[in-house]
Amino acid sequence: MKPPSHPSGAMPPNVTPPAHVAIVMDGNGRWANARGLPRTEGHKAGELSLMEVIAGCIEAGVKVLSVYAFSTENWKRSPREVAFLMNYSRDVIRSRRSELNDWGVKVVWSGRVPRLWKSVIKELKAAEEVTASNSTMVLNFCCNYGGRAEIADAAAALAADVAAGIVRPKDVDPALLGRYMYQPDLPDVDLFIRSGGEQRTSNFMLWEAPYAEYMFVPEPWPEFDRLVLWRCIEQFGSRERRFGGAEDKVAK
Ligand code: IPE
Ligand code: IPE
Ligand code: MG
Repeated sequence: MKPPSHPSGAMPPNVTPPAHVAIVMDGNGRWANARGLPRTEGHKAGELSLMEVIAGCIEAGVKVLSVYAFSTENWKRSPREVAFLMNYSRDVIRSRRSELNDWGVKVVWSGRVPRLWKSVIKELKAAEEVTASNSTMVLNFCCNYGGRAEIADAAAALAADVAAGIVRPKDVDPALLGRYMYQPDLPDVDLFIRSGGEQRTSNFMLWEAPYAEYMFVPEPWPEFDRLVLWRCIEQFGSRERRFGGAEDKVAK
């Protein structure tokens, strides 16, 4: 079943879409506070943005969407906000699971086990199982995720294989180390978007985005919809990606 189209009848831009879009869903707290509401109301409003953007990705032909839901640094927030975010992640994954499954979305989780609430891991695993055979799009839900943590976890696993004699140090190269990341079968990030106006990665997709096109949009996450996504995809279509190569284009 296809997701519902945008009420305006708008269609995605006519460009080759990025295969992998990564989004830092930021600006929830500021959006809520500016309206006289507690930060948690901003997180609640963000659920609809997420479903909108998944629909927009499917319509545009994006094959992988990675979303930053909770970072390894977000444990620094108040116990109340952390508890809210844990409960909320679990509830959203559970309540949206069958809708995502109907849309053909395969859910996968990237993140660290330590500290993450067991009930959240349980729901993520259940969503992974239910949606495992879907092929329309992959939703990579990054929860208790940190780019440096991921690379350190990969290094630890690789070191264990070296110690066990399975891998020789001289065979270690980027491709081999990449096999130890959380989701080694996903393609590199093509388009990295951050909502909410800040211009930093905050430790998202450090390994996976060496040649991503970065876009920072002012809209806070609760105001982000598929139209904002499509604007980014359209701009992506006009960027020249060189991957380190170069071409003579002498002005005449
Ligand atoms: C992003 O919004 C959501 C999470 C980090 C879970 P924030 O909560 O960071 O909102 P701002 O950036 O403070 O407005
Ligand atoms: C990044 O946003 C994490 C998520 C969106 C989950 P933060 O709000 O935590 O990042 P900083 O603190 O502004 O760098
Ligand atoms: Mg923030």
